[in-house]
Amino acid sequence: MQLQSPLPSLSRYTFGTGRIRATADSFAADVKLVRGVMETGVAIHTSSDYGHGGHDVQPFGGGQTLKVLHAAFAEAPTQIPKIVVKLYCATVDNARGHLELILRGLGVDRIDVAQLCTWADFADDFRQQGPRWQVFKEFKEKRLIGNYVAEIFSPWSQNALPVIQEELVDAAIFYYNLVDRQVNNEVWDLIEAKKTKVFALRTLGGICPDLDRVEVVATNAGADPMRSMLAALQGLYKQSGCRNWVEFSMRFALSIPNVLTTIGATNNLHHVHAFLAAERAFQPLPQDVMQQIKTLHRQWF
Ligand SMILES: NC(=O)c1ccc[n+]([C@@H]2O[C@H](COP(=O)([O-])OP(=O)(O)OC[C@H]3O[C@@H](n4cnc5c(N)ncnc54)[C@H](OP(=O)(O)O)[C@@H]3O)[C@@H](O)[C@H]2O)c1
Repeated sequence: MQLQSPLPSLSRYTFGTGRIRATADSFAADVKLVRGVMETGVAIHTSSDYGHGGHDVQPFGGGQTLKVLHAAFAEAPTQIPKIVVKLYCATVDNARGHLELILRGLGVDRIDVAQLCTWADFADDFRQQGPRWQVFKEFKEKRLIGNYVAEIFSPWSQNALPVIQEELVDAAIFYYNLVDRQVNNEVWDLIEAKKTKVFALRTLGGICPDLDRVEVVATNAGADPMRSMLAALQGLYKQSGCRNWVEFSMRFALSIPNVLTTIGATNNLHHVHAFLAAERAFQPLPQDVMQQIKTLHRQWF
């Protein structure tokens, strides 16, 4: 058996759960938000460290967001969405323990896509069908996990080259939006050449600026890298005809053919609908605008 297999069809916008408050006081409102998201049929992205967790709290995160999701799923089991979830896999025991915690935490018997929190010798382990490859295969055979995607972060993006080159996983997942691309030019070029599927994290780059005012703000604020990126993008925004940052961001991500889905977060159901309205009205950005954004990315990342 191979680990690779076709990915399920996913909404082109995926709801990221990283902004759910998940406090004792917000629990009922959080469940209502997730139920509203479930009504729309979009996929969700989550992690056991979301919601006041963190790697240092407990070995597997200790966040409260899974409890919110569990409660929402239990209210409407027929609407449980496609689930993309981070899987820690520093060791085989770690992978087994973490998967068990996720399934129990969410109250589900299967997850669709596991985001492998990869390690330096990932490619060797996969090529040699080593211990972690074996345990991933076991999870797949038992239908506990559907597909595997490799997480990439910028200081180590070079490590991903063999993984992409040899198509060892079904897709790559990394921060990819107008103001971030966590893979260097060499890895990006390979992803484009191989048409590797990409899960693009952080649709809005974590911000929602007023691009009509950015030039003024940037002039006043000096050389903060984010502001200078926004100032450089401002002319392209005007050229694009987009009405706001949400539309500009969604159109950018969805104009990249190999971006399967863009993962954006909000704690506000109206904002989920803003993402979905932008998805429904999607038109690719003009090619010259896309080309210039990609040229800026080559300089920035
Ligand atoms: N290591 C990892 O795997 C990793 C790391 C980071 C993120 N992620 C995933 O990616 C998801 C998204 O990341 P993110 O939250 O950093 O970035 P994001 O989606 O780019 O930005 C979210 C921010 O945008 C605001 N926003 C959303 N829609 C808006 C709208 N229509 N108008 C104005 N503001 C709006 C949100 O505020 P409101 O709540 O007020 O709407 C929130 O402050 C996370 O939830 C998580 O699932 C994964």
